[in-house]
Parts: sequence; C-alpha cells; structure tokens
Amino acid sequence: MYSLTTLLTTLSLLSATLAAPLTIPLGSTGLTITISSDGGAQMNNGQKVDLSPVMAMMSQASPAECATPPAQGNAKAGNAKAVYFLTNAANNAVVALKVGADGKLSAGSMTSTQGKGGVGVDAAGKPALPDGTFSQSIIRVEGSTMIALNPGSNTASLFSISSRDATKLTMIGSPVDTMGDFPVSVAVSSKLSMACVANTGARAGIACYKITPTGLLPSGSLRPFALNQTNPPSGPLNTVSQTFFNGDSTALLTTVKGDPTKKNTGFLSSFPVTAGMVSMTGTQTSPNGTAVLFGSTVLPGTSDIFVTDASFGTATLSSSTGFAAAAVSASTKLDGQKATCWATFSAVTSTAFVTDVARNVLSEIDTKTGEVVKSLDAKNGNIGLIDLASKGNFVYALAPGNATAGVPVHVAVYDVSGGRGSVKEVQNFEVMGVSDSVQGMTLC
Ligand SMILES: *[C@@H]1O[C@H](CO)[C@@H](O)[C@H](O)[C@H]1NC(C)=O
Ligand SMILES: *[C@@H]1O[C@H](CO)[C@@H](O)[C@H](O)[C@H]1NC(C)=O
Ligand SMILES: *[C@@H]1O[C@H](CO)[C@@H](O)[C@H](O)[C@H]1NC(C)=O
Repeated sequence: MYSLTTLLTTLSLLSATLAAPLTIPLGSTGLTITISSDGGAQMNNGQKVDLSPVMAMMSQASPAECATPPAQGNAKAGNAKAVYFLTNAANNAVVALKVGADGKLSAGSMTSTQGKGGVGVDAAGKPALPDGTFSQSIIRVEGSTMIALNPGSNTASLFSISSRDATKLTMIGSPVDTMGDFPVSVAVSSKLSMACVANTGARAGIACYKITPTGLLPSGSLRPFALNQTNPPSGPLNTVSQTFFNGDSTALLTTVKGDPTKKNTGFLSSFPVTAGMVSMTGTQTSPNGTAVLFGSTVLPGTSDIFVTDASFGTATLSSSTGFAAAAVSASTKLDGQKATCWATFSAVTSTAFVTDVARNVLSEIDTKTGEVVKSLDAKNGNIGLIDLASKGNFVYALAPGNATAGVPVHVAVYDVSGGRGSVKEVQNFEVMGVSDSVQGMTLC
C-alpha cells in the first residue's frame, strides 16, 4: 500500500506550479496516478480519486508565506511580493501586480472573481465615482488566503495564492452569498480561520464564515445594522466603512459613517469573539468628536485603533475600558482635507499613513500624539488616493482615474525605508485595462 503521507508530500511540492495533467509513480507498486488541473485523478489500474480538497489545502499550506511581518519597528520586515485590488467592474476581477526587489511594480495578472462589481450613488442619485463603495478592504489577503467581494452580486470569492508566484490565484469553491446587500469590506483572521463581510445596502450588516480548504462556510446569520439604506446604497454618508479584527482577534470591529446633516454621528461596532466564534450580538459606540468614521488600522502592540474621519482627519481610539467605550486619545485636523478616508500603519516608520480621495496627498501621522509628521504631494498628476497598504519598506496607494479627463488609474509607490518622516514617491505605475470603478488595496 502506497503511503498517503508520501503522496501528500509529493503533491505539496508540486501544488505551487502544477503543470497538469501530471503523472506520479506510486513508489515501487507499478501503479501511477494522473492528476488533472481540477484535482480529478485516475490511477493506471482505472481507479478514480478526487484530490481537489487535498490540493486546495496544499495551496494554502504555507500560511506564513505572505503573513504580515511582526510589527513594531521591525525594519527588516519583508517587502511585498504582489499588490492586489479589484476592477469592481460589471465582470469583477482581481488585478495582481508583481513587486520587484526594489519595491517597484510591473505587470501581473487579472483573475475573475466570478461575481459583479458595484458602484453606489451620491446624494443626487448619480454613480458615486471615484469612490464607488465608500469602503476600505474590499479585498484582503491574510497568510496565503485572499477574499474578494462582489458588491453587485452580493457574494464573496475565496482564493489561494501560489507560493511560487504571488500573482497566480486559484479560486477555492464558488463565490458564497454574503447574507445581505452590497458587500464592501472584509475582515480575515488567520488565528480563527474566520472571515467576516460587511454589507451596506438595504440588508446591511455582518456575515461571518469559517475558512475551510474547500471554501467559506457560514458561521451564524446576518448581524444586522439599522442603516435604512437602499440598493445600491447612497453615500458616502450613512454607510459601512470597514470591518476588521483587532490585534489578537478577540473582537470584530466595524466603522460606520454617520450623517452630520441629520445629527447622526455614526458608530464603532464591536462583536466579541468567544470560543472561536464571532458573537451574534455586539455593542455600538460613537466616540465623542467623531462623526464620519472611515478606514482603520490596528496599532500593533496596543489595544488601540487608528481611524480616519472623513469630516476632519484622523483619530486614535483607545479601548482601555473596552471597545464599547472607545474614546479619542489623539486627534488630528488635517489642513485642506476634503475626505480623509483610508489608513495603514507602517512597522518601519511606526507611524500611520492616510489618503484623501479628493487630494493627491499622502499624510503621515504620529498615532500617539496626532502630530502630522509629513504631507507628501507627489505632483504626479494623480487626482486623489483611495485604499492603501504597507509592508516592509514600501506603501502602495491606489489612485483612481477619470476617463473623461484622460487620467488613467495608477498605483503610487512610496519608499519609507529611511524611517519616520522619510517618505518619498518612487514610482507611479499606470494600470492598463481597468476602469474608474477600481477599489481596494492589499498585499502579499
Ligand atoms: C428610511 O429612508 C427612507 C428613504 O429611503 C425615508 O423615507 C424614511 O424616512 C427613512 N426612515 C428612517 C427611520 O429614517
Ligand atoms: C465631548 O467633547 C466636547 C468638546 O470637544 C466636550 O465639550 C464634551 O463635554 C464632551 N462630552 C463628553 C461626554 O465627553
Ligand atoms: C472627471 O473629469 C471631468 C472633466 O474634467 C469632470 O467633469 C468630472 O466631474 C470628473 N469625474 C469625477 C468622477 O470626478
């Protein structure tokens, strides 16, 4: 009898670059097994075997591969291997761009999500471009797992990332229903093997899933938010901004924008994680001084979070007495800001970087004091910046285009290797073949 362990080991070595069909001799038994690209397999004695669950597991078998490096001033943190965002077009797709050793981008791949993108509407009922989903993290990578959302078809798509080529994505299972309307932000916890999706349409709220080798399995039903929204949602005010796990995955947090014109302050939602599950009931709080909470980032080594508020700038929220009573411990009014919405924390600079959809400025903030460390206008012709992410010595920000004005979509690349206050632009990569609906930014 041929050992399953030996077969699995062989498969694990091959799974990254599997050129199918592939025939493997089974030891000295005289038997061979031929594996096709979908994981179907047949032995030369005619016996059929389904290896697709095993192969899906194998392609996820190196969760450390793209893991976020240990944070807190670790200047040796590895750089990204690829950046990803969504076309968010009618036929939604993941755009993957290769990252070189110098941090710069080059062409990569485009992979269908088998779902539809979606664009919300503004107060006048017109498509709300260039920020069509009013959100951060519509696509997210954690370990070698990627989840991408389809706001136009209310589904979430799970992919594994090849450990040999980070621009090679393989869909696991089929897109799953998000239990609500217009999903715009996804949280992933490797520790819990869980993902949670925030919907912001008529049926608004959070849906959670167990991440398994064969796909996403629902964990509980929709945890609703009373937003009284429409399909598509009208924003950016009064919509869900971002959902994310806190640093030790003991709570699922979600920022929701208020509408100051209606004396609605928005809120920070928190669902505790107990026994490995996200609770069905949570708390909501509106930290004094915030109104339009948008993108967020956890602050490594603390229980605090850093948030943007599109109505003034940024704030650090302290949760020393629990997230149900999160309070502003530092805040920053950014001069000339129009809509400060997206945030990332750099372990190399130990500062946060934020972007504004209507200004081509990358702002660096000291999250303890609220000091503006640097405001960088790269003067490269971009209109503004939306979702961004950082890893190692670089920060990558998506710059939406405007076809009418002849401005293409770009990804701006910033070098922060010199530490705090050193940020400089090193590349403004033009992305071909995408439209102005692009959203998201995540790294492997
Ligand atoms: C909900 O929204 C509709 C318009 O879409 C509005 O007429 C209604 O008053 C709203 N209800 C509440 C409770 O805000
Ligand atoms: C909220 O902040 C305002 C000023 O920023 C202050 O006057 C008020 O007392 C604060 N309220 C609470 C409940 O802390
Ligand atoms: C795109 O540019 C055109 C021409 O300058 C302008 O009228 C339009 O408002 C811009 N679109 C967006 C979504 O900003």
